[in-house]
Amino acid sequence: PTPRNFSIVCIPGDGIGVDITDAAVQVLSALSATFGTFTFQFETLDWSSKNYRQRGYYAPEGGVEGLKKYDAIYFGAVGWPDVPDHISLWQMILPIRTTLNQYANVRPTRILPGTVSPLAACAADPSLLDWVIVRENSEGEYAGHGGTTPSSAHALHTVATEVSIFTRVGIERIVRFAFEMALRRPRKKLTMVTKSNAQRHGMVLWDMVFYEVAREYEGRVEYDKMLVDAMTVRMVKSPQTLDTIVATNLHADILSDLAAALSGSIGIAPSSNLDPTRTFPSMFEPIHGSAPDIAGQGIANPVGAFWSAAEMIRWLAGADGSSNEEGLVEGTGVGHMVDAAECLMTAIANVTERGVKTRDLGGESGTKEVTDAVCEEISNVY
Ligand code: NAI
Ligand code: MG
Repeated sequence: PTPRNFSIVCIPGDGIGVDITDAAVQVLSALSATFGTFTFQFETLDWSSKNYRQRGYYAPEGGVEGLKKYDAIYFGAVGWPDVPDHISLWQMILPIRTTLNQYANVRPTRILPGTVSPLAACAADPSLLDWVIVRENSEGEYAGHGGTTPSSAHALHTVATEVSIFTRVGIERIVRFAFEMALRRPRKKLTMVTKSNAQRHGMVLWDMVFYEVAREYEGRVEYDKMLVDAMTVRMVKSPQTLDTIVATNLHADILSDLAAALSGSIGIAPSSNLDPTRTFPSMFEPIHGSAPDIAGQGIANPVGAFWSAAEMIRWLAGADGSSNEEGLVEGTGVGHMVDAAECLMTAIANVTERGVKTRDLGGESGTKEVTDAVCEEISNVY
């Protein structure tokens, strides 16, 4: 049979985003060459901070709309010290997420073999930490409501507001997505995080909608509720009591960085920005940023980029799935793509276990050595 082709658009962005995107393309190519049942056709867009300074924009007019024609988007990282971070975030990442309806951001965390968690208990037993954080990706503080009066922030009497937006529709769809995710995991456990003591409107609505949806999963998923401050303590003290976690855009952003650090390094953590209705392409990226402090040195950890690539393959594998009542699509599998994602994860684990690791994981290898080792390991695992 002819291999199934997927068109992937790469947006490497800035700093180490460029190095790790290159590395991910190499690994994805090695994987398709080994399996032979699918191919990737890559295109690269130069939406970077350097170009922003020269041309005045990240994405050109109509650029974000143009992403709709691809099967998936692979994103590196954007942001550079000479462009304010709110510009790169609001002109590049957020327009993609909102235009393409990527309302679910999925962030798995595990401790890879050969790496060490800063938590003593997990250093002894890495299986204690196995989480998926589901981040609401379209609302809250990232909805863009607010303003500064007067517009010069330097005036003495300046007032600035940052309004969190929460909608019933937005909460319900992410909570349902999280329950479905929990249902597919072995422990079938979901923890919802809010701050409904202090934030008494939006967060109270979250709690209410959560318990409403929870009724549909009664007896099938075990669930509980945490306040975000107490949650940080539980993540550190009792990681084994958590499995799937659902939280607002801002809370989950913060908790997932903590999760990544507890798993050993921010350099290994993947993230998927999903349109669960599959109307538009989804976007896959490591959770770390452009890391200006190590950019250009060839030492960036590519593992988060590889893991994100594995998540992309897993998502593409469900591309022929049919929609259920909630508009969520069940993956039925395209060829051997689910196996390919597993193969890539095993190859990564074998390489870290052998000690081929970048410095952030306590190793001495560079980006290229780790990438070459994973590419080679793919054919061994296959
Ligand atoms: P960062 O994630 O870029 O770096 C934080 C620390 O972790 C640095 O010490 C860095 O060297 C280290 N680190 C990150 N990724 C690594 C990797 N793969 N291997 C080894 N070490 C790694 O976060 P920071 O410094 O807060 O932000 C830098 C820039 O990136 C900013 O402009 C920020 O806005 C942007 N950023 C962009 C994101 C995105 O594109 N989605 C996400 C987070 C930050
Ligand atoms: Mg973050």
